[in-house]
Amino acid sequence: MKVYGANKSDIIGAMKSGNVTIAVYGLGKMGLPLAAVFADCGARVIGADVSPEVVASINRGECHVVGEPGLAGLVAKNTAAGRLSATSDMVDAAKQSDVMVILVPTFLDADKNPDMSIVESVCKNIAQGLDKGDLVIQESTVPPRTTHDIILPLLEGSGLSCGEFGVAHCPERTSSGRAIEDIRGAYPKVVGGIDESSTQAAAAIYSVINSKGVIPVTDATTAEAVKVFEGLYRDVNIALANELAVVCDEIGISAIETFDVANTQPYSHIHKPGCGVGGHCIPVYPYFITKTVKSDTRLLTLAREINDGMAGYTVELVRRGLGEVGVELKDANVLVLGVTYRGDVKETRCSPALSIIDILKGECRVVFAYDPLFGDDVRQFGAEPRRLDDVGDIDAVVIAADYEEFREIEWGELRLRHRVLVDGRNVAEGDKFIGDGFVYKGIG
Ligand SMILES: NC(=O)c1ccc[n+]([C@@H]2O[C@H](COP(=O)([O-])OP(=O)(O)OC[C@H]3O[C@@H](n4cnc5c(N)ncnc54)[C@H](O)[C@@H]3O)[C@@H](O)[C@H]2O)c1
Repeated sequence: MKVYGANKSDIIGAMKSGNVTIAVYGLGKMGLPLAAVFADCGARVIGADVSPEVVASINRGECHVVGEPGLAGLVAKNTAAGRLSATSDMVDAAKQSDVMVILVPTFLDADKNPDMSIVESVCKNIAQGLDKGDLVIQESTVPPRTTHDIILPLLEGSGLSCGEFGVAHCPERTSSGRAIEDIRGAYPKVVGGIDESSTQAAAAIYSVINSKGVIPVTDATTAEAVKVFEGLYRDVNIALANELAVVCDEIGISAIETFDVANTQPYSHIHKPGCGVGGHCIPVYPYFITKTVKSDTRLLTLAREINDGMAGYTVELVRRGLGEVGVELKDANVLVLGVTYRGDVKETRCSPALSIIDILKGECRVVFAYDPLFGDDVRQFGAEPRRLDDVGDIDAVVIAADYEEFREIEWGELRLRHRVLVDGRNVAEGDKFIGDGFVYKGIG
């Protein structure tokens, strides 16, 4: 059923009874969970992806995305029921569908300018299969105004005009490891159309899958800004916490204790400090603003600089810690724990651990790494693999990601050559190391 211009209850009824066909472009960490949830709620879903391996595995009922609780079961169930299939024929997927959802990667180029080329290429594909009454939903994170200034004109390349089809931006606000839970309703879906009918049609569709409902906003640009600003808020506030943590170190107090107590006042929300900000969201989105607007955005730029600088500060803590046991960094073997940007999530994009490894490589004797999700593959990041039961020649350990496994380490039992621990994620409790003869340096 065509949804643009239809009334809400008709759209909801058609979707639940399998009479709305939805194409989801991009079956990655975010696209596959969304496609599976749409199918599980009754829609007929065609996943469209350029990767033949991804398409083939989904058509076999298999799930290539790891670490997403509940996803494999949903993919198996809904492919078996005939509600979920995949194709690499982008144009045909659009021709067969009433709703086309774009959820492909958005990047920065070498100069940190937003690179929307994949979104643009998908829009050109969709334009070739666009019909009157279709609704195109853009979920990829993009700089504000992208839907209006780039996506809409590309879709009008179909020969149809705005008003004959709908377009909305409905940002994906989840994060890896909790996608199904979030999509189904950890918080409401933000929906902003290029016109009222687009907003209404998108709101009806998401009301079927999200138990927390929908927040309709004035337009697509507002919806784009909501998503980008969520990330900027985190980046700037983490930068504040990091700067204050360095100050606390200088004046000899615990930042963690100070922040916790300050935050008992309801207007104070000081974030957690750490060895950097990673992933492909928070460190990327500031550039979606700083590189696209003329306004003064010094605060965003400075926050990026501060957060990127934490990897160097972490290495300085290693140097200081080693100095306290009489070892120079250039003579030391350093073990980095965790190469991912977040513990228990296999994602290394913009990971601070990789910056720490890069800096250490030029400064210490040998840099080793251990990550529960990578094993010997840590070599690809320039570090030698090493396990925690083989640390006799290690002079310093850096915790760079907050894996649950690292919280369980019996530090007193590790047979390190020198007991220097730099905790970049506040995983270990500093006090308990003093008795074990450790030099402990935390960030905060
Ligand atoms: N992963 C997250 O935690 C997260 C959270 C919120 C928002 N987002 C946003 O979601 C979007 C997608 O991110 P992701 O993590 O799912 O990416 P991903 O890299 O996991 O997956 C992207 C998928 O798109 C496919 N693809 C690439 N080019 C294509 C094309 N031209 N046509 C069709 N498919 C194509 C790839 O083969 C891949 O399967 C990004 O804009 C990202 O910013 C991601």
